[in-house]
Amino acid sequence: MPFPDRFLWGAATSAFQIEGSPLADGAGPSIWQRFARTPGLTVGGETGDVACDHYRRMPEDVALMEALGLQAYRFSVNWGRVLPEGTGAVNGPGLDFYDRLVDALAEAGIEPMLTLYHWDLPAALDRRGGWLNRDVADWLADYARVVYDRLGDRVRHWITLNEPWVVMDGGYVRGGLAPGHRVHEEGAWAAHHLLLSHARATAALRAEGAESVGLAVNLEPKVAATDRPEDVAATARADAYMNRIFLDPVVHGRYPEALPEVFGASWPDLPLDDLDEIQTDTDFFGINYYTRAVCVDDPSDPPERARRVRQLRHLYTDMGWEVYAPAFRDLLVWVKDEYGDPAMYVTENGAAFPDPPQTIGGEVPDPMRIAYLHDHLLAVRDAIEAGADVRGYFAWSLFDNVEWSQGTTKRFGLVHVDFETLERTPKHSAAFYREVIDSNGGAL
Ligand code: NOJ
Repeated sequence: MPFPDRFLWGAATSAFQIEGSPLADGAGPSIWQRFARTPGLTVGGETGDVACDHYRRMPEDVALMEALGLQAYRFSVNWGRVLPEGTGAVNGPGLDFYDRLVDALAEAGIEPMLTLYHWDLPAALDRRGGWLNRDVADWLADYARVVYDRLGDRVRHWITLNEPWVVMDGGYVRGGLAPGHRVHEEGAWAAHHLLLSHARATAALRAEGAESVGLAVNLEPKVAATDRPEDVAATARADAYMNRIFLDPVVHGRYPEALPEVFGASWPDLPLDDLDEIQTDTDFFGINYYTRAVCVDDPSDPPERARRVRQLRHLYTDMGWEVYAPAFRDLLVWVKDEYGDPAMYVTENGAAFPDPPQTIGGEVPDPMRIAYLHDHLLAVRDAIEAGADVRGYFAWSLFDNVEWSQGTTKRFGLVHVDFETLERTPKHSAAFYREVIDSNGGAL
């Protein structure tokens, strides 16, 4: 069984993770630029100042995408390149970079999918409260308008936010990611403002004429390790906290029932009237899938109080994530059933494995990544067969890149990057993926 006609095959990246040159041409610093400069917060003190140097090598990178046979490319715009203060004055040269990128993609026949917010909030906005300030919803909408006005004639697919759960949990609850706060109540406020921002940015883009506006969420099926009531309840908490917290409000106009219990005494008195505005038609959901979680009750691990149990018979990636493709099929079908059969794109899927830091005679064999992609693509096909409206697949990631606070130690790329020389070398998985693309999945 091949994939549907016009299924879109692509690869994904994000600005901070590949661009480097964070302050070039008048850009304002982001929270990541600031976070990564604080000693001890990133592995090896890596700053992302160079990353893959994509900002300076963009034309050759687009040529490489074309050589790999990609039909589509998902990238993000660094807000602070466009609006150094986050609001107000537009920085022409910053916007020009994305304009050139979009033109180069068009010339290469590659369809762009643009993410407005992939975690690099302008530091100036963080000083005004960042995601804790309700005004962020208008800041995002204004920024969306500026970018759309320049690129909307050539970019069809727009994503407002990438993985709002990680913004909330990593940025405000657990603090491993910028801005690095650790206050549960702030997590709830951040989530609420992320939701409002998605709604306002969607409305702004639509008013400008955008026809395909989505939200990219990371979902992780939660499975109870036993049928003990405590474990079942813990699993439901983990599910509400991670999988339903954004989709329920957007689609159904309400927070999941279990959510106040997850936050406990930290659940604030949110202005629930906003849910009318938050409930919006979204043209598609971007689904980022990496792993599942087999859960047991663990009161010592707030806020969900659910711990994952190691599956001894399964492979784990370099991130410590269980490799388990069948859950991907079930997840896509779950989104279809639970959220009104939306259009979906797999906006991220892939795996970090310890590839060699240098190529082996110009080759990078990565059989585990090939096996991962193979099995997960079959799971996507199974979901489509079961009726899920999945319209495309973006491998994470095009390049080995800066894995946030883990720096360049985790390699997710189809293309190997030597971080000493910045040389790019397609891995064996890139050749595999090309066969898949060329056969529309028939080669799987
Ligand atoms: C999700 C994020 O969107 C991306 O930035 C990150 O690199 C991958 N997952 C892998 O952790």
